[in-house]
Amino acid sequence: MVTTPIYYVNDKPHIGHVYTSTVADIYARYKRLQNMDVFFLTGTDEHGLKVEQSAEKRQIPAQALADENSLVFQEVMKSNEISFDDFIRTTDERHTTQVQAFVEKLLKSGDVYLGKFEGWYDEGQEEYYTETKAKECNYESPISGKPMVRMEEENYYFKLSKYESKVKELLETNDSFLTPKERKNELLQRVNDGLNDVPISRTNFTWGIPMPGDEQHVIYVWIDALMNYITAIGMAQDGEEKQKYWPASIHVMAKEISWFHAVIWPAVLMALDLPLPSRVHAHGFWIREGRKMSKSLGNFVDLTVLNKFSNHYGLDGFRYYLATEGPIGAQDANFASSRVQEVYGTDLVNTFGNSTSRTTAMCVKYFDGILPEKSDDNSKIFEGYDWKSICEKEAAEAVCAYENLELNKATQAAMRIIAKVDLFITETEPFRMAKDPNERENLGAVLYQCLEALRISACILEPILPNKVKEMHAGLPLYANESDSMEKRLIWGGIKPGTTVSKLALFPRLDPLDENGEIMKEAQAPAASKKPAKKSKTKVKKVYSPETQAKIDAQGALIRSMKESGKTNDDAEVAEAVKILKELKASE
Ligand code: MSP
Repeated sequence: MVTTPIYYVNDKPHIGHVYTSTVADIYARYKRLQNMDVFFLTGTDEHGLKVEQSAEKRQIPAQALADENSLVFQEVMKSNEISFDDFIRTTDERHTTQVQAFVEKLLKSGDVYLGKFEGWYDEGQEEYYTETKAKECNYESPISGKPMVRMEEENYYFKLSKYESKVKELLETNDSFLTPKERKNELLQRVNDGLNDVPISRTNFTWGIPMPGDEQHVIYVWIDALMNYITAIGMAQDGEEKQKYWPASIHVMAKEISWFHAVIWPAVLMALDLPLPSRVHAHGFWIREGRKMSKSLGNFVDLTVLNKFSNHYGLDGFRYYLATEGPIGAQDANFASSRVQEVYGTDLVNTFGNSTSRTTAMCVKYFDGILPEKSDDNSKIFEGYDWKSICEKEAAEAVCAYENLELNKATQAAMRIIAKVDLFITETEPFRMAKDPNERENLGAVLYQCLEALRISACILEPILPNKVKEMHAGLPLYANESDSMEKRLIWGGIKPGTTVSKLALFPRLDPLDENGEIMKEAQAPAASKKPAKKSKTKVKKVYSPETQAKIDAQGALIRSMKESGKTNDDAEVAEAVKILKELKASE
Protein backbone atom coordinates (compact mmCIF):
# COMPACT_ATOMS: atom_id res chain seq x y z
CA MET A 1 0.00 0.00 0.00
CA VAL A 2 1.26 3.44 -1.04
CA THR A 3 -0.45 6.59 0.27
CA THR A 4 -0.45 10.34 -0.13
CA PRO A 5 -1.71 12.56 2.68
CA ILE A 6 -5.39 13.25 2.22
CA TYR A 7 -5.64 16.79 0.90
CA TYR A 8 -7.26 19.49 2.93
CA VAL A 9 -10.41 20.72 1.15
CA ASN A 10 -10.24 24.20 2.61
CA ASP A 11 -7.14 24.93 0.50
CA LYS A 12 -6.71 25.13 -3.24
CA PRO A 13 -4.50 22.56 -4.96
CA HIS A 14 -0.95 23.73 -5.67
CA ILE A 15 2.45 22.33 -6.59
CA GLY A 16 2.92 20.77 -3.11
CA HIS A 17 -0.14 18.56 -3.57
CA VAL A 18 0.71 17.64 -7.15
CA TYR A 19 4.28 16.88 -6.12
CA THR A 20 3.43 14.58 -3.20
CA SER A 21 1.03 12.71 -5.46
CA THR A 22 3.55 12.50 -8.28
CA VAL A 23 6.22 11.06 -6.00
CA ALA A 24 3.77 8.48 -4.64
CA ASP A 25 2.60 7.77 -8.19
CA ILE A 26 6.15 7.15 -9.45
CA TYR A 27 6.77 4.79 -6.55
CA ALA A 28 3.46 2.98 -7.11
CA ARG A 29 4.18 2.59 -10.83
CA TYR A 30 7.66 1.32 -10.06
CA LYS A 31 6.26 -1.25 -7.62
CA ARG A 32 3.59 -2.34 -10.12
CA LEU A 33 6.34 -2.84 -12.69
CA GLN A 34 7.87 -5.23 -10.18
CA ASN A 35 4.58 -7.12 -10.39
CA MET A 36 3.66 -6.16 -6.84
CA ASP A 37 -0.01 -5.97 -5.92
CA VAL A 38 -0.12 -2.22 -5.22
CA PHE A 39 -2.99 -0.37 -3.58
CA PHE A 40 -2.43 3.35 -4.04
CA LEU A 41 -4.61 5.53 -1.85
CA THR A 42 -5.31 9.24 -1.94
CA GLY A 43 -8.26 11.38 -0.87
CA THR A 44 -9.54 14.48 0.87
CA ASP A 45 -9.55 15.64 4.47
CA GLU A 46 -12.86 17.46 4.91
CA HIS A 47 -13.71 18.16 8.55
CA GLY A 48 -12.72 20.87 11.02
CA LEU A 49 -13.36 24.38 12.19
CA LYS A 50 -11.87 26.13 9.16
CA VAL A 51 -14.07 24.23 6.70
CA GLU A 52 -17.12 25.04 8.86
CA GLN A 53 -16.18 28.75 8.89
CA SER A 54 -15.51 28.92 5.14
CA ALA A 55 -18.88 27.32 4.44
CA GLU A 56 -20.59 29.78 6.81
CA LYS A 57 -18.95 32.66 5.00
CA ARG A 58 -20.35 31.42 1.72
CA GLN A 59 -23.68 30.60 3.37
CA ILE A 60 -23.64 27.04 2.16
CA PRO A 61 -23.64 23.77 4.14
CA ALA A 62 -20.17 22.48 5.04
CA GLN A 63 -20.92 19.30 3.13
CA ALA A 64 -21.61 21.29 -0.04
CA LEU A 65 -18.28 23.09 0.29
CA ALA A 66 -16.50 19.80 0.90
CA ASP A 67 -18.21 18.18 -2.12
CA GLU A 68 -17.21 21.05 -4.36
CA ASN A 69 -13.58 21.18 -3.25
CA SER A 70 -13.08 17.44 -3.04
CA LEU A 71 -14.13 17.26 -6.69
CA VAL A 72 -11.44 19.78 -7.59
CA PHE A 73 -8.80 17.57 -5.95
CA GLN A 74 -10.19 14.48 -7.67
CA GLU A 75 -9.96 16.23 -11.01
CA VAL A 76 -6.41 17.41 -10.32
CA MET A 77 -5.37 13.84 -9.54
CA LYS A 78 -7.03 12.55 -12.68
CA SER A 79 -5.69 15.26 -14.99
CA ASN A 80 -2.20 14.63 -13.64
CA GLU A 81 -2.73 10.91 -14.33
CA ILE A 82 -2.05 9.95 -10.73
CA SER A 83 -2.72 6.22 -10.81
CA PHE A 84 -4.61 5.92 -7.52
CA ASP A 85 -6.73 2.86 -6.76
CA ASP A 86 -9.04 4.56 -4.30
CA PHE A 87 -9.97 8.11 -3.36
CA ILE A 88 -11.24 8.31 0.20
CA ARG A 89 -13.17 11.24 1.61
CA THR A 90 -13.39 11.72 5.36
CA THR A 91 -17.09 12.42 4.92
CA ASP A 92 -17.63 8.97 3.33
CA GLU A 93 -19.85 6.85 5.51
CA ARG A 94 -17.38 3.96 5.26
CA HIS A 95 -14.85 6.29 6.91
CA THR A 96 -16.97 7.91 9.62
CA THR A 97 -18.42 4.63 10.93
CA GLN A 98 -15.02 2.97 11.12
CA VAL A 99 -13.41 5.99 12.81
CA GLN A 100 -16.12 5.75 15.48
CA ALA A 101 -15.47 2.03 15.83
CA PHE A 102 -11.73 2.60 16.30
CA VAL A 103 -12.26 5.40 18.83
CA GLU A 104 -14.71 3.21 20.71
CA LYS A 105 -12.06 0.52 20.88
CA LEU A 106 -9.59 3.08 22.27
CA LEU A 107 -12.18 4.21 24.86
CA LYS A 108 -12.63 0.61 25.96
CA SER A 109 -8.91 -0.04 26.28
CA GLY A 110 -8.46 3.18 28.27
CA ASP A 111 -6.17 4.70 25.63
CA VAL A 112 -8.78 7.45 25.22
CA TYR A 113 -10.22 9.10 28.36
CA LEU A 114 -12.16 12.23 29.35
CA GLY A 115 -10.01 14.88 31.02
CA LYS A 116 -9.28 18.60 31.49
CA PHE A 117 -6.55 20.36 29.58
CA GLU A 118 -4.92 23.73 29.53
CA GLY A 119 -2.35 24.67 26.92
CA TRP A 120 -1.13 26.81 24.03
CA TYR A 121 -3.29 26.43 20.96
CA ASP A 122 -2.49 27.37 17.37
CA GLU A 123 -5.91 28.20 15.97
CA GLY A 124 -4.83 28.13 12.33
CA GLN A 125 -3.24 24.70 12.61
CA GLU A 126 -5.80 23.41 15.12
CA GLU A 127 -2.87 22.12 17.16
CA TYR A 128 -1.70 22.33 20.79
CA TYR A 129 1.92 23.06 21.67
CA THR A 130 3.88 22.10 24.79
CA GLU A 131 5.09 24.96 26.99
CA THR A 132 8.68 24.43 25.75
CA LYS A 133 7.74 24.46 22.09
CA ALA A 134 5.35 27.41 22.52
CA LYS A 135 8.08 29.40 24.28
CA GLU A 136 10.56 28.50 21.57
CA CYS A 137 8.16 29.93 18.99
CA ASN A 138 7.66 33.05 21.06
CA TYR A 139 4.04 31.97 21.62
CA GLU A 140 3.33 32.58 17.95
CA SER A 141 2.24 30.03 15.37
CA PRO A 142 5.34 28.87 13.45
CA ILE A 143 3.08 28.54 10.40
CA SER A 144 0.91 31.68 10.38
CA GLY A 145 2.84 33.86 12.83
CA LYS A 146 -0.40 34.61 14.71
CA PRO A 147 -0.31 34.58 18.55
CA MET A 148 -1.09 31.25 20.18
CA VAL A 149 -4.12 31.22 22.44
CA ARG A 150 -4.21 29.91 26.03
CA MET A 151 -7.06 27.42 26.09
CA GLU A 152 -8.74 25.27 28.70
CA GLU A 153 -10.93 22.42 27.58
CA GLU A 154 -12.66 19.35 28.82
CA ASN A 155 -11.75 16.86 26.21
CA TYR A 156 -11.19 13.30 25.32
CA TYR A 157 -7.49 12.57 25.43
CA PHE A 158 -5.33 10.02 23.72
CA LYS A 159 -2.75 8.54 26.12
CA LEU A 160 0.26 9.42 24.00
CA SER A 161 2.48 9.49 27.11
CA LYS A 162 1.99 5.74 27.51
CA TYR A 163 3.75 5.16 24.16
CA GLU A 164 6.64 7.58 24.66
CA SER A 165 9.35 4.96 25.12
CA LYS A 166 8.05 2.74 22.31
CA VAL A 167 7.90 5.64 19.84
CA LYS A 168 11.34 6.75 20.92
CA GLU A 169 12.69 3.26 20.40
CA LEU A 170 11.04 3.08 16.97
CA LEU A 171 12.68 6.30 15.84
CA GLU A 172 16.03 5.49 17.39
CA THR A 173 16.41 1.92 16.23
CA ASN A 174 14.54 1.59 12.96
CA ASP A 175 16.43 3.67 10.43
CA SER A 176 14.16 2.79 7.56
CA PHE A 177 10.95 3.90 9.34
CA LEU A 178 11.38 7.63 8.83
CA THR A 179 13.13 8.96 5.74
CA PRO A 180 15.03 11.04 4.75
CA LYS A 181 17.18 10.29 7.77
CA GLU A 182 17.63 14.00 8.61
CA ARG A 183 14.02 14.09 9.85
CA LYS A 184 14.80 11.70 12.68
CA ASN A 185 16.68 14.18 14.86
CA GLU A 186 14.02 16.87 14.45
CA LEU A 187 11.38 14.50 15.80
CA LEU A 188 13.51 12.79 18.42
CA GLN A 189 14.36 16.14 19.97
CA ARG A 190 10.65 16.82 20.42
CA VAL A 191 9.96 13.32 21.71
CA ASN A 192 12.80 13.71 24.22
CA ASP A 193 11.03 16.79 25.61
CA GLY A 194 8.37 14.35 26.71
CA LEU A 195 5.11 13.26 25.16
CA ASN A 196 1.95 14.67 26.74
CA ASP A 197 -1.43 13.12 26.22
CA VAL A 198 -3.22 14.82 23.32
CA PRO A 199 -6.80 15.99 23.16
CA ILE A 200 -8.61 14.17 20.39
CA SER A 201 -12.01 15.83 20.61
CA ARG A 202 -13.39 19.35 20.21
CA THR A 203 -16.53 21.08 21.39
CA ASN A 204 -16.09 24.48 19.74
CA PHE A 205 -17.50 23.37 16.38
CA THR A 206 -19.72 20.65 14.99
CA TRP A 207 -18.33 19.86 11.54
CA GLY A 208 -16.71 16.54 12.36
CA ILE A 209 -17.31 12.93 13.31
CA PRO A 210 -19.27 12.75 16.60
CA MET A 211 -17.47 11.16 19.53
CA PRO A 212 -19.14 7.79 20.14
CA GLY A 213 -21.39 8.05 23.19
CA ASP A 214 -20.84 11.81 23.66
CA GLU A 215 -22.20 13.78 20.72
CA GLN A 216 -21.26 17.13 22.29
CA HIS A 217 -17.74 16.38 21.11
CA VAL A 218 -16.46 15.87 17.60
CA ILE A 219 -13.32 13.87 16.89
CA TYR A 220 -10.21 16.00 16.31
CA VAL A 221 -9.46 16.36 12.59
CA TRP A 222 -6.01 14.82 12.79
CA ILE A 223 -7.20 11.58 14.41
CA ASP A 224 -10.07 11.50 11.92
CA ALA A 225 -7.70 12.15 8.99
CA LEU A 226 -4.92 9.72 9.96
CA MET A 227 -7.39 6.91 10.23
CA ASN A 228 -8.20 7.20 6.50
CA TYR A 229 -5.28 4.88 5.82
CA ILE A 230 -7.01 2.03 7.63
CA THR A 231 -10.66 2.85 6.96
CA ALA A 232 -10.12 2.87 3.17
CA ILE A 233 -9.10 -0.78 3.35
CA GLY A 234 -11.84 -1.70 5.82
CA MET A 235 -9.68 -2.54 8.82
CA ALA A 236 -12.71 -2.23 11.08
CA GLN A 237 -14.93 -4.28 8.78
CA ASP A 238 -15.11 -8.03 9.10
CA GLY A 239 -13.97 -10.08 6.12
CA GLU A 240 -12.75 -7.11 4.06
CA GLU A 241 -10.31 -8.47 1.47
CA LYS A 242 -8.39 -5.21 1.16
CA GLN A 243 -7.13 -5.59 4.74
CA LYS A 244 -4.26 -7.53 3.16
CA TYR A 245 -2.74 -4.19 2.14
CA TRP A 246 -2.02 -3.25 5.75
CA PRO A 247 0.59 -2.36 6.95
CA ALA A 248 1.32 0.29 4.32
CA SER A 249 4.70 0.07 2.60
CA ILE A 250 4.99 3.83 2.50
CA HIS A 251 3.21 7.04 3.49
CA VAL A 252 4.52 9.90 1.30
CA MET A 253 4.13 13.52 2.50
CA ALA A 254 6.06 16.74 3.14
CA LYS A 255 8.01 17.46 6.28
CA GLU A 256 5.53 19.62 8.19
CA ILE A 257 3.24 16.69 8.90
CA SER A 258 5.94 14.17 9.86
CA TRP A 259 5.12 14.63 13.58
CA PHE A 260 1.61 13.34 13.05
CA HIS A 261 2.72 10.45 10.86
CA ALA A 262 5.88 9.33 12.63
CA VAL A 263 4.91 9.99 16.28
CA ILE A 264 1.13 10.25 16.82
CA TRP A 265 0.12 7.72 14.15
CA PRO A 266 2.44 4.89 15.31
CA ALA A 267 1.24 5.44 18.89
CA VAL A 268 -2.43 5.24 17.79
CA LEU A 269 -1.69 2.06 15.84
CA MET A 270 0.12 0.57 18.84
CA ALA A 271 -2.93 1.33 20.96
CA LEU A 272 -5.18 -0.30 18.35
CA ASP A 273 -2.86 -3.30 18.25
CA LEU A 274 -2.23 -2.87 14.56
CA PRO A 275 1.11 -3.19 12.78
CA LEU A 276 3.01 -0.02 11.87
CA PRO A 277 3.61 1.24 8.33
CA SER A 278 7.02 0.21 7.02
CA ARG A 279 8.01 3.71 6.06
CA VAL A 280 7.10 7.36 6.38
CA HIS A 281 8.79 9.55 3.79
CA ALA A 282 8.65 13.25 4.58
CA HIS A 283 10.10 15.22 1.69
CA GLY A 284 11.02 18.91 1.67
CA PHE A 285 9.02 21.91 0.47
CA TRP A 286 8.73 23.58 -2.87
CA ILE A 287 9.65 27.19 -2.33
CA ARG A 288 9.67 30.21 -4.64
CA GLU A 289 12.50 32.70 -5.01
CA GLY A 290 13.91 31.26 -1.81
CA ARG A 291 10.73 31.94 0.18
CA LYS A 292 8.13 29.63 1.59
CA MET A 293 4.90 29.58 -0.42
CA SER A 294 2.07 30.95 1.67
CA LYS A 295 -1.37 32.48 1.49
CA SER A 296 -0.10 35.77 2.88
CA LEU A 297 2.64 36.08 0.25
CA GLY A 298 0.26 34.82 -2.43
CA ASN A 299 3.20 33.12 -4.13
CA PHE A 300 1.84 29.61 -4.64
CA VAL A 301 2.58 27.80 -7.85
CA ASP A 302 -1.13 27.29 -8.28
CA LEU A 303 -3.22 25.08 -10.51
CA THR A 304 -3.48 27.59 -13.34
CA VAL A 305 0.30 27.93 -13.55
CA LEU A 306 0.84 24.20 -13.10
CA ASN A 307 -1.55 23.41 -15.94
CA LYS A 308 0.25 25.82 -18.22
CA PHE A 309 3.54 24.04 -17.55
CA SER A 310 2.17 20.56 -18.05
CA ASN A 311 0.27 21.57 -21.20
CA HIS A 312 3.39 23.16 -22.65
CA TYR A 313 6.00 20.53 -21.71
CA GLY A 314 3.56 17.64 -21.69
CA LEU A 315 2.59 15.82 -18.55
CA ASP A 316 5.68 13.61 -18.73
CA GLY A 317 7.99 16.51 -19.50
CA PHE A 318 6.78 18.35 -16.41
CA ARG A 319 6.83 15.19 -14.26
CA TYR A 320 10.45 14.75 -15.26
CA TYR A 321 11.23 18.19 -13.88
CA LEU A 322 9.34 17.48 -10.63
CA ALA A 323 11.16 14.16 -10.26
CA THR A 324 14.64 15.47 -10.96
CA GLU A 325 14.56 18.86 -9.25
CA GLY A 326 11.93 18.34 -6.57
CA PRO A 327 12.52 18.46 -2.78
CA ILE A 328 12.56 14.68 -2.40
CA GLY A 329 15.12 14.72 0.42
CA ALA A 330 15.79 16.89 3.42
CA GLN A 331 16.27 20.14 1.48
CA ASP A 332 13.64 22.46 0.04
CA ALA A 333 13.64 23.08 -3.72
CA ASN A 334 13.12 26.28 -5.60
CA PHE A 335 10.57 26.28 -8.40
CA ALA A 336 12.06 28.09 -11.38
CA SER A 337 10.72 28.16 -14.92
CA SER A 338 14.26 28.54 -16.29
CA ARG A 339 15.16 25.17 -14.74
CA VAL A 340 12.08 23.51 -16.22
CA GLN A 341 13.29 24.65 -19.64
CA GLU A 342 16.90 23.62 -19.02
CA VAL A 343 16.11 20.18 -17.66
CA TYR A 344 13.61 19.52 -20.46
CA GLY A 345 16.05 20.74 -23.13
CA THR A 346 19.14 19.01 -21.81
CA ASP A 347 17.84 15.63 -20.70
CA LEU A 348 14.72 15.06 -22.74
CA VAL A 349 15.26 16.91 -26.04
CA ASN A 350 19.03 16.79 -26.45
CA THR A 351 19.77 13.51 -24.75
CA PHE A 352 16.87 11.05 -24.66
CA GLY A 353 14.91 12.44 -27.62
CA ASN A 354 17.87 13.19 -29.85
CA SER A 355 19.57 9.86 -29.31
CA THR A 356 16.36 7.93 -29.90
CA SER A 357 15.54 9.84 -33.05
CA ARG A 358 19.08 9.51 -34.50
CA THR A 359 19.31 5.82 -33.80
CA THR A 360 15.86 4.84 -35.00
CA ALA A 361 16.36 7.03 -38.10
CA MET A 362 19.60 5.20 -38.92
CA CYS A 363 17.85 1.87 -38.52
CA VAL A 364 15.16 2.98 -40.95
CA LYS A 365 17.67 4.47 -43.41
CA TYR A 366 20.20 1.64 -43.46
CA PHE A 367 18.01 -1.42 -42.81
CA ASP A 368 14.51 -0.33 -43.85
CA GLY A 369 13.61 -0.34 -40.18
CA ILE A 370 14.17 -4.06 -39.66
CA LEU A 371 16.90 -5.10 -37.27
CA PRO A 372 19.17 -7.41 -39.26
CA GLU A 373 19.84 -11.06 -38.45
CA LYS A 374 22.62 -11.70 -35.94
CA SER A 375 22.83 -8.01 -34.99
CA ASP A 376 22.44 -9.20 -31.39
CA ASP A 377 25.60 -11.31 -31.63
CA ASN A 378 27.02 -10.93 -28.12
CA SER A 379 30.56 -11.63 -29.26
CA LYS A 380 30.62 -8.29 -31.09
CA ILE A 381 31.94 -5.97 -28.43
CA PHE A 382 33.46 -2.69 -29.55
CA GLU A 383 36.42 -1.57 -27.51
CA GLY A 384 35.37 0.14 -24.29
CA TYR A 385 31.68 -0.64 -24.82
CA ASP A 386 30.64 -3.80 -23.03
CA TRP A 387 27.01 -2.71 -23.26
CA LYS A 388 25.61 -5.67 -21.36
CA SER A 389 27.61 -4.86 -18.24
CA ILE A 390 27.25 -1.08 -18.68
CA CYS A 391 23.46 -1.45 -18.75
CA GLU A 392 23.35 -4.03 -15.97
CA LYS A 393 25.31 -1.72 -13.67
CA GLU A 394 23.20 1.36 -14.43
CA ALA A 395 19.92 -0.58 -14.19
CA ALA A 396 20.90 -1.94 -10.78
CA GLU A 397 21.70 1.61 -9.63
CA ALA A 398 18.38 2.87 -10.92
CA VAL A 399 16.41 0.15 -9.13
CA CYS A 400 18.25 0.89 -5.91
CA ALA A 401 17.54 4.61 -6.39
CA TYR A 402 13.79 4.02 -6.91
CA GLU A 403 13.76 1.84 -3.82
CA ASN A 404 15.27 4.73 -1.82
CA LEU A 405 13.04 7.27 -3.57
CA GLU A 406 16.15 8.98 -4.97
CA LEU A 407 14.32 9.82 -8.17
CA ASN A 408 17.03 12.04 -9.55
CA LYS A 409 19.58 9.26 -9.22
CA ALA A 410 17.32 6.92 -11.18
CA THR A 411 17.10 9.39 -14.06
CA GLN A 412 20.85 9.99 -13.96
CA ALA A 413 21.50 6.27 -14.47
CA ALA A 414 19.36 6.39 -17.64
CA MET A 415 21.01 9.62 -18.83
CA ARG A 416 24.49 8.14 -18.36
CA ILE A 417 23.58 5.23 -20.63
CA ILE A 418 22.19 7.57 -23.27
CA ALA A 419 25.20 9.92 -23.18
CA LYS A 420 27.34 6.83 -23.70
CA VAL A 421 25.24 5.79 -26.69
CA ASP A 422 25.96 9.19 -28.23
CA LEU A 423 29.68 8.78 -27.62
CA PHE A 424 29.54 5.26 -29.06
CA ILE A 425 27.96 6.58 -32.25
CA THR A 426 30.65 9.21 -32.53
CA GLU A 427 33.40 6.68 -32.08
CA THR A 428 32.04 3.87 -34.23
CA GLU A 429 30.74 6.21 -36.98
CA PRO A 430 27.81 4.20 -38.33
CA PHE A 431 27.31 6.78 -41.12
CA ARG A 432 30.81 5.83 -42.37
CA MET A 433 30.12 2.11 -41.98
CA ALA A 434 26.96 2.53 -44.05
CA LYS A 435 29.08 3.43 -47.06
CA ASP A 436 31.12 0.25 -46.89
CA PRO A 437 29.38 -3.01 -47.88
CA ASN A 438 31.96 -4.99 -45.86
CA GLU A 439 30.83 -3.25 -42.68
CA ARG A 440 27.15 -4.31 -42.87
CA GLU A 441 27.44 -6.72 -39.97
CA ASN A 442 29.27 -4.23 -37.80
CA LEU A 443 26.72 -1.57 -38.68
CA GLY A 444 23.89 -3.89 -37.64
CA ALA A 445 25.66 -4.65 -34.37
CA VAL A 446 26.28 -0.98 -33.60
CA LEU A 447 22.65 -0.10 -34.20
CA TYR A 448 21.44 -3.08 -32.20
CA GLN A 449 23.56 -2.07 -29.24
CA CYS A 450 22.40 1.55 -29.40
CA LEU A 451 18.74 0.57 -29.62
CA GLU A 452 19.03 -2.00 -26.86
CA ALA A 453 20.79 0.49 -24.56
CA LEU A 454 18.09 3.05 -25.33
CA ARG A 455 15.40 0.44 -24.67
CA ILE A 456 16.87 -0.21 -21.23
CA SER A 457 17.11 3.53 -20.50
CA ALA A 458 13.45 3.92 -21.43
CA CYS A 459 12.48 1.03 -19.14
CA ILE A 460 14.37 2.75 -16.31
CA LEU A 461 12.46 5.97 -16.98
CA GLU A 462 9.04 4.35 -17.36
CA PRO A 463 7.64 5.17 -13.87
CA ILE A 464 8.50 8.85 -14.49
CA LEU A 465 7.63 9.08 -18.19
CA PRO A 466 4.79 6.57 -18.59
CA ASN A 467 3.22 8.18 -21.64
CA LYS A 468 6.40 8.90 -23.56
CA VAL A 469 7.62 5.38 -22.93
CA LYS A 470 4.35 4.03 -24.30
CA GLU A 471 4.83 6.24 -27.37
CA MET A 472 8.35 4.91 -27.73
CA HIS A 473 7.14 1.32 -27.42
CA ALA A 474 5.08 1.83 -30.57
CA GLY A 475 8.21 2.64 -32.60
CA LEU A 476 10.76 0.53 -30.75
CA PRO A 477 9.29 -2.43 -28.84
CA LEU A 478 10.50 -2.16 -25.26
CA TYR A 479 9.14 -5.45 -23.89
CA ALA A 480 7.57 -8.61 -25.24
CA ASN A 481 4.58 -8.64 -22.88
CA GLU A 482 2.92 -5.88 -20.94
CA SER A 483 3.09 -8.13 -17.86
CA ASP A 484 6.89 -8.51 -18.04
CA SER A 485 8.38 -7.31 -14.77
CA MET A 486 10.81 -4.41 -14.65
CA GLU A 487 13.53 -6.87 -13.71
CA LYS A 488 12.89 -8.80 -16.93
CA ARG A 489 12.63 -5.63 -19.02
CA LEU A 490 16.01 -4.49 -17.76
CA ILE A 491 17.82 -7.63 -18.92
CA TRP A 492 20.13 -7.07 -21.89
CA GLY A 493 18.89 -8.65 -25.13
CA GLY A 494 15.21 -7.76 -25.06
CA ILE A 495 15.07 -6.63 -28.69
CA LYS A 496 15.27 -9.46 -31.20
CA PRO A 497 16.70 -9.32 -34.75
CA GLY A 498 13.85 -8.99 -37.20
CA THR A 499 12.10 -6.42 -34.99
CA THR A 500 10.57 -3.53 -36.90
CA VAL A 501 11.66 -0.09 -35.78
CA SER A 502 10.21 3.23 -36.89
CA LYS A 503 11.64 6.72 -36.57
CA LEU A 504 10.76 8.35 -33.29
CA ALA A 505 10.51 12.02 -32.41
CA LEU A 506 9.66 12.03 -28.73
CA PHE A 507 10.35 15.52 -27.39
CA PRO A 508 9.81 18.63 -29.52
CA ARG A 509 11.97 21.67 -29.01
CA LEU A 510 9.94 24.26 -27.06
CA ASP A 511 10.02 27.94 -26.21
CA PRO A 512 10.68 28.79 -22.57
CA LEU A 513 7.88 29.87 -20.22
CA ASP A 514 8.05 32.65 -17.66
CA GLU A 515 7.30 32.12 -13.96
CA ASN A 516 3.58 32.42 -14.60
CA GLY A 517 3.62 29.84 -17.35
CA GLU A 518 3.32 32.30 -20.24
CA ILE A 519 5.39 31.74 -23.37
CA MET A 520 8.37 34.09 -23.31
CA LYS A 521 8.98 36.39 -26.19
CA GLU A 522 12.40 36.45 -27.92
CA ALA A 523 13.50 39.55 -26.03
CA GLN A 524 12.68 38.10 -22.62
CA ALA A 525 14.22 34.68 -23.26
CA PRO A 526 17.08 33.81 -20.93
CA ALA A 527 20.65 34.59 -21.94
CA ALA A 528 21.05 30.94 -22.91
CA SER A 529 19.16 31.45 -26.16
CA LYS A 530 20.44 34.94 -26.93
CA LYS A 531 23.86 36.14 -28.02
CA PRO A 532 25.81 36.79 -24.82
CA ALA A 533 26.86 40.37 -24.30
CA LYS A 534 30.61 40.92 -24.54
CA LYS A 535 31.66 41.61 -20.98
CA SER A 536 35.38 41.19 -20.77
CA LYS A 537 38.25 40.37 -23.04
CA THR A 538 39.63 37.64 -20.83
CA LYS A 539 38.31 34.28 -21.93
CA VAL A 540 37.34 32.11 -18.98
CA LYS A 541 36.97 28.41 -19.65
CA LYS A 542 33.62 27.30 -18.37
CA VAL A 543 33.56 24.24 -16.15
CA TYR A 544 30.64 21.85 -16.71
CA SER A 545 29.36 18.95 -14.66
CA PRO A 546 30.93 15.63 -15.74
CA GLU A 547 27.61 14.55 -17.33
CA THR A 548 27.26 17.73 -19.41
CA GLN A 549 30.98 17.69 -20.30
CA ALA A 550 30.62 14.12 -21.60
CA LYS A 551 27.67 15.19 -23.74
CA ILE A 552 29.57 18.24 -25.04
CA ASP A 553 32.58 16.06 -25.95
CA ALA A 554 30.36 13.55 -27.72
CA GLN A 555 28.55 16.28 -29.64
CA GLY A 556 31.84 17.96 -30.61
CA ALA A 557 33.24 14.65 -31.85
CA LEU A 558 30.06 14.05 -33.81
CA ILE A 559 30.36 17.40 -35.58
CA ARG A 560 34.03 16.74 -36.36
CA SER A 561 33.26 13.35 -37.83
CA MET A 562 30.45 14.80 -39.95
CA LYS A 563 32.87 17.37 -41.31
CA GLU A 564 35.53 14.72 -41.91
CA SER A 565 33.01 12.82 -43.98
CA GLY A 566 32.70 15.87 -46.26
CA LYS A 567 29.68 17.67 -44.75
CA THR A 568 29.67 21.43 -44.17
CA ASN A 569 27.85 23.80 -41.81
CA ASP A 570 25.20 24.25 -44.50
CA ASP A 571 24.15 20.63 -44.15
CA ALA A 572 20.94 20.37 -42.10
CA GLU A 573 22.38 17.51 -40.06
CA VAL A 574 25.50 19.52 -39.12
CA ALA A 575 23.46 22.64 -38.38
CA GLU A 576 21.24 20.63 -36.04
CA ALA A 577 24.25 19.10 -34.30
CA VAL A 578 25.85 22.56 -33.83
CA LYS A 579 22.58 23.88 -32.40
CA ILE A 580 22.49 21.02 -29.88
CA LEU A 581 26.11 21.71 -28.90
CA LYS A 582 25.30 25.37 -28.29
CA GLU A 583 22.31 24.45 -26.16
CA LEU A 584 24.36 21.99 -24.15
CA LYS A 585 26.95 24.67 -23.45
CA ALA A 586 24.27 27.14 -22.42
CA SER A 587 22.52 24.65 -20.18
CA GLU A 588 24.81 25.26 -17.20
N1 MSP B 1 -4.88 17.10 5.46
C1 MSP B 1 -3.54 17.05 5.91
C2 MSP B 1 -2.96 15.67 5.76
C3 MSP B 1 -3.68 14.60 6.50
S1 MSP B 1 -3.01 13.02 6.19
C4 MSP B 1 -3.66 12.04 7.33
C5 MSP B 1 -2.68 18.01 5.07
N2 MSP B 1 -3.19 18.40 3.91
S2 MSP B 1 -2.58 19.51 2.98
O1 MSP B 1 -3.48 19.61 1.87
O2 MSP B 1 -2.35 20.70 3.73
O3 MSP B 1 -1.19 19.03 2.48
C6 MSP B 1 -1.11 17.92 1.64
C7 MSP B 1 0.31 17.56 1.27
O4 MSP B 1 0.93 18.61 0.55
C8 MSP B 1 1.18 17.32 2.48
O5 MSP B 1 2.11 16.28 2.19
C9 MSP B 1 1.92 18.56 2.60
O6 MSP B 1 3.06 18.33 3.34
C10 MSP B 1 2.18 18.85 1.13
N3 MSP B 1 2.60 20.20 0.90
C11 MSP B 1 1.96 21.36 1.22
N4 MSP B 1 2.75 22.42 0.84
C12 MSP B 1 3.88 21.95 0.26
C13 MSP B 1 4.95 22.54 -0.42
N5 MSP B 1 5.10 23.84 -0.52
N6 MSP B 1 5.87 21.71 -1.00
C14 MSP B 1 5.74 20.36 -0.99
N7 MSP B 1 4.73 19.78 -0.38
C15 MSP B 1 3.89 20.53 0.42
O7 MSP B 1 -1.60 18.37 5.50
